[in-house]
Amino acid sequence: MQITDKNIEEYCISKSNLPSNDCLAIEEYTRANVHGAGMLIGKMEASFIGFLLRSIKAKRILELGTFTGYSALTMAEHIPDDGEIITVDINKETVDLAKDFWSKSEHGKKITSKLGSGLDIIPTLGGQFDFVFIDADKRNYIDYLKLTVPMLSPNGMIVIDNVLWGGQVLPGSESTGSDLRDRNTEFIRMVNDYIAESKDLYGTLMPIRDGMFLVRKK
Ligand SMILES: C[S@@+](CC[C@H](N)C(=O)[O-])C[C@H]1O[C@@H](n2cnc3c(N)ncnc32)[C@H](O)[C@@H]1O
Repeated sequence: MQITDKNIEEYCISKSNLPSNDCLAIEEYTRANVHGAGMLIGKMEASFIGFLLRSIKAKRILELGTFTGYSALTMAEHIPDDGEIITVDINKETVDLAKDFWSKSEHGKKITSKLGSGLDIIPTLGGQFDFVFIDADKRNYIDYLKLTVPMLSPNGMIVIDNVLWGGQVLPGSESTGSDLRDRNTEFIRMVNDYIAESKDLYGTLMPIRDGMFLVRKK
């Protein structure tokens, strides 16, 4: 299910500030050559994240789920020169592609790639983060959230991607026919319920692209 009407989304994109041509090159290459290109956050979400990063004057970012480096580079374009993005992924092949693209951008130097599983890498990271973008394996979403909330700076926020899961999270949705996708529906429902019921977190679930949960400490 496409959450937003396609024409509406295209109009919004046409009137929004968008990622640079360096990011566009990653998007186009990925869509043409890489399996799973539907995982890219795309222009609308990238523009919205850029707005958030500028609003909170984010300097230090943690991303879970690098893929081909599109979202990391779009975020790097909105932080100062002495800002830092640490981005984590288990897939060396796509991370190597990402590094190649970043090396062509003046903003690439702000990005540090960590190869490994999010659950192993997060506890090795020190310091606070102004922004955490959770966009990796859905099975661990809830643990990624629980591990990173204590790492937020006072004005920091977490954004969790794909929380509408094509509409599958709605009560009574039928099976997709894929066991993996159905299991992921349950993991995403779990994290959505956890945020909704938390007394310590302030969350806003936005129907942008595949759903973005904006979370901060109360
Ligand atoms: C949705 S994609 C990320 C898309 C990227 N944020 C973008 O928009 O350009 C999800 C990524 O999570 C990675 N991933 C899967 N399991 C992971 C794990 N346990 N730890 C870290 N990354 C993982 C996958 O290899 C994949 O590249």
